[in-house]
Amino acid sequence: MCGIVGAVAQRDVALILLEGLKRLEYRGYDSAGVAILSRDDRLQRVRVAGKVKELEDALAREALYGSTGIAHTRWATHGKPSFSNAHPHVCRGEIALVHNGIIENHEELRAQQLALGYEFTSETDTEVVVNQVHHHATGGKDLLEAVMDTVAELDGAYALGVISRSEPQRLIAARRGSPLVIGVGIGEHFIASDVFALLPVTQRFVFLEDGDIADITRQAITIYDSKRNEIERPIRVSELTADAAEKSGFRHFMLKEIFSQPRAVAETLEGRIAEGRVVEEAFGPNAASVLDTIHSVHIVACGTSYHAGLIARYWMEAIAGLPCSVEVASEFRYRRLVVRPETLFVSISQSGETADTLAALREAKQRGYAHSLAICNVPESSLTRESELVVMTRAGPEIGVASTKAFTTQLVVLMLLVILLGRRHGLGVEDEHALVAQLESLPGKLNAVLELSDQIQTLAEQFANKHHTLYLGRGSLYPVAMEGALKLKEISYIHAEAYPAGELKHGPLALVDDDMPVVAVAPNNGLLEKLKSNLQEVRARGGRLYVFADPAAGVENSPGVQVLNVAPIEEPIAPVIYTVPLQLFAYHVAVLKGADIDQPRNLAKSVTVE
Ligand code: F6R
Repeated sequence: MCGIVGAVAQRDVALILLEGLKRLEYRGYDSAGVAILSRDDRLQRVRVAGKVKELEDALAREALYGSTGIAHTRWATHGKPSFSNAHPHVCRGEIALVHNGIIENHEELRAQQLALGYEFTSETDTEVVVNQVHHHATGGKDLLEAVMDTVAELDGAYALGVISRSEPQRLIAARRGSPLVIGVGIGEHFIASDVFALLPVTQRFVFLEDGDIADITRQAITIYDSKRNEIERPIRVSELTADAAEKSGFRHFMLKEIFSQPRAVAETLEGRIAEGRVVEEAFGPNAASVLDTIHSVHIVACGTSYHAGLIARYWMEAIAGLPCSVEVASEFRYRRLVVRPETLFVSISQSGETADTLAALREAKQRGYAHSLAICNVPESSLTRESELVVMTRAGPEIGVASTKAFTTQLVVLMLLVILLGRRHGLGVEDEHALVAQLESLPGKLNAVLELSDQIQTLAEQFANKHHTLYLGRGSLYPVAMEGALKLKEISYIHAEAYPAGELKHGPLALVDDDMPVVAVAPNNGLLEKLKSNLQEVRARGGRLYVFADPAAGVENSPGVQVLNVAPIEEPIAPVIYTVPLQLFAYHVAVLKGADIDQPRNLAKSVTVE
């Protein structure tokens, strides 16, 4: 999604803004731009309908000097990716503005502004915002008041950075629904969509709340809430360092993140288990009293995080004995539903900024769920600030658009939750010890499965020229198949669909032929024999099988069947392990296809619009 960077400093800010944009590239975008106030107070702007590298080249040809500026990477919503739709948008050479979000009443505002004689140079919803700020500013208001009056008239979501030629030492920032942080420097201040963008210049941040408007100069940061009351927001010191967002010798962020899963899982467990049991306080000081009251669970999330929820449902019902439903956030938020009493609302999100998941949490609070718990990877994100209980996944920054380590660490936290709830509903100490031992064995087992990378690469060679594929799994391995299919389609652009293997004969089997490879995950569990029968159904129709299987599963290499053995792993933790070869498989196929691994087309890392 769109990325914002801004600065008000004593030094030239062009390179700081450019570096910030590079560090936001992972969010996904299609065009980029920068606007800087020159020392003689001219508003200079450079935009490109392409990547930040092209913006950098353009700035090398036409250097912009000045100490106040804003910059932007755009992920198209209203209007195609193009030069004229790229931000910053400028009104009458006076005011420049960058925006992340969607303005829902832009048509109404556009009509009013046309009547006032404003002209439009883009198809964006954003241009009405800069015009409106200009309109209020020409009515005698200063930039802060003009932005305050403008945001009061906006419906929808926004994070904004605004500068004005007539107030060159001032940067106004505002947010509602889209993320924005202020970077606190010494004699200079910054804004950005996330902390990564600013780590080279500061580690001190103020996280704006919904409705906040900040008046930022070199010397001061003054924040107002939506009622225009001046308020204090704490300065937090980030533990991240500037190299947190670097590839560390890996060819792609995604590969680095896949290989960091053993460490990420170990960190997620750190301090949360002791003497073979889950430490209840790890879920927060109020966790015990909240969990005591819970008799059912509703999990809501999007994409990969939703798949984590689907796996947790199997665990929640089998281990904790609690009814558990799982739903995609974009459906949940608009559905009339029956809320069971004593239900815990669980939201899962890597970024903590996904608009649908956030809206679902807000909706859940209105609809009378007993309590809410968020599982999240980004500290200080909106989701963590709005949920009653919060458990961090501690996967570290995830830069590749395709989520990997965030998913496996979400599963670890979900298992901890299942154990804590299970304890209250008949899970015995011995069973808890056994589950905790499985969790503790994960880093070692993950390391073993990562060693399969070269073999998986060889397997991938047979896929690079395919256009469609089916993924199969059963039980809790069915969501693993869903996640594997999602990874393949998002980074290699090969069409992949997942089915519970038993469902194949009810329709999808019609698709199977020599040109439709079928990928299956086959741990040695209670459903193995059923799965093997389903695989026979595929073979009998000439389908080629690629099976990730336990060595004891009895699935052998044979004509049309290729098996890759995955080290033995117990239930119920098998989904965590079987996810990894599917991540590697998608990765290697996409590399062979020459795809843009870390920034797949059309996708964004942090989906901050509905
Ligand atoms: C897929 C992927 C997306 C996200 C989804 C939710 O690899 O990354 O499907 O999982 O957009 O994002 P979060 O977890 O940030 O809410």
